[in-house]
Parts: sequence; structure tokens; C-alpha cells
Amino acid sequence: MSDQSAGRYAGKRVLLTGAASGIGRAVTLRLASEGARVFALDIDEAGLAATAKAAAGQVAVRRCDVTSAAECRAAVEAAVGELGGLDVLGNIAGVARGEHMTEVTESAYRQMMGVNVDGYFFMAQAAIPHLLASGEAGNDPVIVNIASNAGLIGQAYTVVYCMTKGAVVQLTRALAMEFLKSPLRVVGIAPGGVETGLVHGYQMPADVDWDLVMRYTGARGLAQPDDIANLFAFLASDEARNIHGTVVSSDGGMTAG
Ligand SMILES: NC(=O)c1ccc[n+]([C@@H]2O[C@H](COP(=O)([O-])OP(=O)(O)OC[C@H]3O[C@@H](n4cnc5c(N)ncnc54)[C@H](O)[C@@H]3O)[C@@H](O)[C@H]2O)c1
Repeated sequence: MSDQSAGRYAGKRVLLTGAASGIGRAVTLRLASEGARVFALDIDEAGLAATAKAAAGQVAVRRCDVTSAAECRAAVEAAVGELGGLDVLGNIAGVARGEHMTEVTESAYRQMMGVNVDGYFFMAQAAIPHLLASGEAGNDPVIVNIASNAGLIGQAYTVVYCMTKGAVVQLTRALAMEFLKSPLRVVGIAPGGVETGLVHGYQMPADVDWDLVMRYTGARGLAQPDDIANLFAFLASDEARNIHGTVVSSDGGMTAG
């Protein structure tokens, strides 16, 4: 961390989903190390406890299943109660599966939609009044949505995941337009492959056409969660005050051509 960025998040009140592992944990640790007070959510309580233990700064945790609108609302109210307001919402929790389109079960479909789309929408809906209040108090509130390269290009055997991440891209743009005249910024990040549990747990059916899969594996290898946390820390900071409604790729060139 450069001296210039030290304390960049001093006084910032941050709410993050998916904070028990992978990118969410890296973002939690990064923002806390820069002075943020973080309220960290996940369905995985053991992972949340490990994140809080690893954090240098102040991190409070709460179990929240983001597929439930009621749990999203309760978590936002708990965060605002703990932090005294809200400046940053990071929608990070996500699930992915690789499977033939014709073999997607209704429960797998609903789970992916529930976490990756419903969760992002209902967290944003509950948080926005508090973020707007932060803006009225003279701060620079922001929502950062983690999309994916899968929201920007079509990928075989991940049709539902692509649909959900396309929705995240459009959630980001549509919110940016609805709040264009307010101080609230809304931005997205589209990672390519990142070395997390999501990728390690990812399984393809044995009979897929690997030529189709290799088109979206990327030529530069997997990124690290910190690569995404670095970008998040910039986009959610006041340094990015002119970036609104943009989805920024961090994918090693995967979607460049
Ligand atoms: N790893 C990649 O290659 C990659 C690429 C592009 C985008 N992404 C996106 O990055 C985000 C973070 O994923 P990751 O790679 O760190 O994976 P991860 O599996 O390490 O983290 C995802 C987190 O979401 C949590 N979660 C799952 N269901 C939940 C629910 N119902 N309620 C609350 N939390 C829930 C999990 O417990 C987990 O801690 C996701 O949105 C994912 O789609 C990941």
C-alpha cells in the first residue's frame, strides 16, 4: 500500500456480502486495512469468523442469506445500527455452476438467480436510503456490484450464470441512471477467472465440448482475490468520483477480442 492510499477509507462505513471467502474476504481485509469500518455478511458463519480474525481493522459480522429479501433488509438495518450509517455497499456474494442447459434443475436455477440477482437487488434496495443520507451529509456514497466476464460475453455450459451476471451489469447501469442526479455512484467489476473456492469447486460435465469451454478460460491464468480487491478499493474510494454506471473488467484480456 502506498502512503498516498493509507487511511483512504478512514471513517467510511462499509457493508459487504460474500465476505466469508475469496474476493469478499480480500475486499474486507483491504478496506479494513485502509481504515474502513466493515459490516461483513455471508451465509458461511465459520468463514465470516475467520475473515474477522484476519482483519487488522474493525470488522463486525452477521449471517445473512441474501436470497431472502427480509434477511437483506434486516442485515442493512443491523449494519446501519452498528456503523451509524452507510457509505459503501459491496454486492459480492455469488454462486456458479457448470452444466448442460438441458440439465439445469429448477432448484439450481432458483439458487443462482436468488443469490446473484435477487440478493444484489434487495441489498441495494434496502441500502439506498442510507447511502443517499450519507450523500446528503456530504459524503461520496457508492454501490459496487461484482459482475463477471460471464455478464459481458456468452459462455457455453454456464447459461444461468451468464444470465445472472448480465442482470448485474444492467442493475449497475439502470441504478446509475435512476440516481444520476444524486451523489450516489454505482459501479461494477467484471472479473475473469480468480483463484477462489468458486473456481476450485467448479465442475463441468464430462461430456462437454472442451473447445467451447477453452474460449473463456483466459490466456493469462487465474487472477488472485487481491487483484479484484485492489480495483474495488479504488472504485469505492473518492478517487473514482467520476466513475458512475461503468462496469470495469479485470480479466487479463479475456473479453478484449
Ligand atoms: N472466482 C471467479 O473466477 C469469479 C469470476 C467472476 C466473478 N466472480 C464473482 O465474484 C463473487 C465472489 O465470488 P468468489 O470467487 O470470491 O467465490 P467464493 O465462493 O469464494 O465466495 C462467494 C461467497 O458467497 C457466499 N454465498 C453463497 N451463497 C450465499 C447466500 N445465499 N447468502 C450469502 N452469501 C452467500 C459464499 O458463502 C461465499 O463466501 C461472486 O459474485 C462471483 O460470481 C468470481
